[in-house]
Amino acid sequence: MSEKIYIETYGCQMNFADSEVVCAILEGAGYKLSPTIEEADFVLINTCAIRDNAEQRVRHRVRELRALQGRRHRLRIGILGCMAERLQSRLMAEEDNVSFVCGPDAYRRLPDLLRQVRDGQQAAEVELSTTETYADIEPVRLGSNGISAYISIMRGCQNYCAYCVVPYTRGRERSRNPQTVVDEARSLFERGYREVTLLGQNVNSYQWKEGENEVGFPELMARVAAIDPALRVRFATSHPKDLSDELLQVMAAHDNICRCIHLPVQSGSNRMLKLMNRKYTVEWYLDRVEAIRRYLPDCSITTDVIAGFSSETEEDHQATLDLFRRVRYDYAYMFKYSLREGTYAARHLPDDIADEEKTRRLNEIIALQGQIALENNRTEVGREYEVLVEGESHRSKERLFGRNSQNKVIVFDRGDAVPGTYRMVRVVDCTAATLLGELVGSV
Ligand code: 5AD
Ligand code: SF4
Repeated sequence: MSEKIYIETYGCQMNFADSEVVCAILEGAGYKLSPTIEEADFVLINTCAIRDNAEQRVRHRVRELRALQGRRHRLRIGILGCMAERLQSRLMAEEDNVSFVCGPDAYRRLPDLLRQVRDGQQAAEVELSTTETYADIEPVRLGSNGISAYISIMRGCQNYCAYCVVPYTRGRERSRNPQTVVDEARSLFERGYREVTLLGQNVNSYQWKEGENEVGFPELMARVAAIDPALRVRFATSHPKDLSDELLQVMAAHDNICRCIHLPVQSGSNRMLKLMNRKYTVEWYLDRVEAIRRYLPDCSITTDVIAGFSSETEEDHQATLDLFRRVRYDYAYMFKYSLREGTYAARHLPDDIADEEKTRRLNEIIALQGQIALENNRTEVGREYEVLVEGESHRSKERLFGRNSQNKVIVFDRGDAVPGTYRMVRVVDCTAATLLGELVGSV
């Protein structure tokens, strides 16, 4: 009888996409996916190392699984992803119920690893690669609604932002053959999917040599968007330093490329941006925001921000708040700075803002952003949007939810709407997080 695996995923969208590749590799090697953790022979935890609290959550989970291992002696636990890469075999010494670690570029080695640990041995595969893209592996769509899917188009990052561990855990940038991306998107569309999100740590750096020609990210987007006007295309994440007019022009030329750009700013102070090695200024960033508004007047903009980076003053913090007031983001992921071992900041920049002060600054940003999101949403009332219907609202079976091109969630009475199709919905009310709407008619 074939052995069963169960996978849990923490962290970014890239990790969720990677877990789907991992399942494809292990299914290909004869393993079955277990619907519950209780029946599994191997539990794989795909982890995030971006902030200390992400790692603590995983460690807590690993310790919790000890009880299950007590009852089922054959259960083996493996740690995948960024924490595995960062800590390597140290992790197995610190968490002695972990049998193996496998870094993000070593997933093809998993069948071998599992064979090695079956007899109770420990094993580690953490080699990074300059070429691995898993381009030939068709991901097993986990927990999918059958409507939207991730497609990873490039891996790694070499921007070396001073605070960030990703260049060390995910290695050098490398792009995937564009034809395999287009084929994967087309195959999803033919199977009824209506939305793909092209993923990479820095998608604007996508670059592929095709004989004499180079395919960059705008060209790749144009090729995927050309598959069918009924296939929505999203992407994440872009680095502001490389957000080109060419990309914005390609977006403007294709209605099915969604009007939403995630543009992590990190700080509103030029001094902080320089220390962070972000390679742009506030003025440059605002110029890019203006370009987005010019080419795509209805585009939503979202961001990431860090409060309390090394030496951040009250003035720097106020500059971040000012930038938020100027850009008026539709959504923001907001974090307290967390020192990561091995980064430039850990080696050269003291983590000198007290935790309570970081918390206060973060809370101020969160409060301001909440107010802005609510005000933005209020201006949506009365507008009509084409919504890709995704499923039942969590609160009520009588209601469905979907997203507009701007990636805003709209909840509405279900009427005759069907998940996986497009409908026009008029916004009638809102909260800071959700729009409430009513069906207008068929598109
Ligand atoms: N501390 C806090 N936030 C961080 N991020 C990356 N590294 C750190 C860190 N050391 C945030 C950035 C990035 C997002 C994915 O996580 O805002 O854009
Ligand atoms: Fe980290 Fe900067 Fe790379 Fe983003 S661009 S993954 S923040 S190093």
